[in-house]
Amino acid sequence: RRSRHGAKVRCVSISKDTPPTTTTLPLREIPGDYGLPFFGAFADKMAYYWTEKLPKFYENRRDKYKSTVYRMNTVPGPPGFPDPRVIILLDEKSFPILFDVSKVEKKDVFTGTYHPDFKYTGGYRVLPYLDPSEEKHALLKGFCFEVLKSSGRRVFPELHAKLAAVFDGWEAGLQKDGKTSATKDLGMATLRFIVTAFTGQDPTAPDVKHSLGAGAPTTSKLWLAPQILPIFVPPAGVPKLLIPLIELLIHTFPIPYFFVKSQHSKICDFFRSHAGHLLDVAESQFGLARDEALHNLVFYTIFNAWGGIDILFPILVRRVGSTSPEFQRELGAEVRRAIEANGGLNPAALRDMPTVQSAVWEALRIEPPVPFQYGRAKEDLIVESHEAAFQVKKGEMLAGYMPMACRDPKVFTDPDSYNPKRFLGDEGQKLVQYVLWSNGPETEDPTLANKQCPGKNFIVTLSQLFVAEIFSRFETIQVDYASGELRSLKRRFCFLGLESMQPG
Ligand code: HEM
Repeated sequence: RRSRHGAKVRCVSISKDTPPTTTTLPLREIPGDYGLPFFGAFADKMAYYWTEKLPKFYENRRDKYKSTVYRMNTVPGPPGFPDPRVIILLDEKSFPILFDVSKVEKKDVFTGTYHPDFKYTGGYRVLPYLDPSEEKHALLKGFCFEVLKSSGRRVFPELHAKLAAVFDGWEAGLQKDGKTSATKDLGMATLRFIVTAFTGQDPTAPDVKHSLGAGAPTTSKLWLAPQILPIFVPPAGVPKLLIPLIELLIHTFPIPYFFVKSQHSKICDFFRSHAGHLLDVAESQFGLARDEALHNLVFYTIFNAWGGIDILFPILVRRVGSTSPEFQRELGAEVRRAIEANGGLNPAALRDMPTVQSAVWEALRIEPPVPFQYGRAKEDLIVESHEAAFQVKKGEMLAGYMPMACRDPKVFTDPDSYNPKRFLGDEGQKLVQYVLWSNGPETEDPTLANKQCPGKNFIVTLSQLFVAEIFSRFETIQVDYASGELRSLKRRFCFLGLESMQPG
């Protein structure tokens, strides 16, 4: 027999208690331990958030155990959160076990070992918390695909319009102060974009029923953030005196829903008023109750889609914006050629931009916006790293830290460098399968039966469109990667009537 990776495998019996399984690798006991109850978890938690931080926390243990698979306590842990014991997976070979829903259970593991109070989602377990074995999973995922499909016509013109305002802001900021943030206006633009694309209504428009107004991003973040604050890694430079307070407020107990009830109600009112046509589809095509469909729609739109884009677009602009002017001119030439050959910036033009596509995949590889995936072993099973095979018992929690898996030096050369041309050519194409950001290989697609992100293709298209929009308007843009500060812009002259002047 041959394995998924093409290697010859032989059958060996792992133990008399487990079914026979196949591996060519030496069996090794999973290294690492959990320490004393509570104290072990507390020590790991302090190291994770404050003393070692990411990715050092993982790297230190990988080096100590000489293994990319080991046992550790994850966050947030006791006293306010469930059992933190996990087996971490940090390489491209072991990670994909988390995509195999016949082997791992994905029930209530969307945010990790804990889940937020379901009051945040109207009392429902929304789609990302469901295992595909639950009947509702396929119905709700079908509804999600339908929402994405129905946004089709609006995506290109809406993103163009919303980004134009961001680009104007870049130019005005540079003219006024000589520098500006490349990322600060993206959150507002992408929220307006995604809600308009899905519902047909801009949530900030002043004169519409239940408008969220200019405070829409704040209202959305106030609802979204407490759900993931327990696993939020504070930025560097927090004064030592504040650490106990931060620990107590966000990492020790779940944040009660009542703090954000009014923001959540406002968001739901907006969707109830403006997404009736989508709720009709949920009822008639998928047999879903209207209220459950509403809470899922709010989650898909604000949490999954905007929450993801709000992380990804700043990554893209910082990564692509800090490449060399020579590379950017090459990118611009590809964008222009494709637009001219396809009669505009449309889906066909995007398919003609392999370098843009590669630059986007590379950003998703090096900084996957959702870094963690979890799954509980449905049965005794064997997990293989590149070097060894490990026996995992039914019920044990597996966790993956994707930024390390996707920088696996056994798969990618110079894995810590952003190489925007990495996926070009035949050799580059072979690497696309190792881009895992969507909770699955980039060469596979989300289905009703798996847990791959239903927005996978939508997000890649959107990201390509973002890069193409930048380079159809600007010849070069220089962004400081670390701070996201925009240092300079060179506007393109007279291309397809998109521009008329060079800023001062
Ligand atoms: C699932 C990432 C955009 C809807 C996921 C998962 C990841 C992910 C990693 C798997 C979570 C897990 O089970 O461990 C992202 C990122 C996005 C993005 C990084 C943007 C940059 C979107 C969009 C939608 C969407 C545009 C659609 C509206 C969902 C849903 C699930 C999911 C509903 C659960 C799927 C299921 O239960 O089968 N996403 N996503 N996401 N995503 Fe996305």
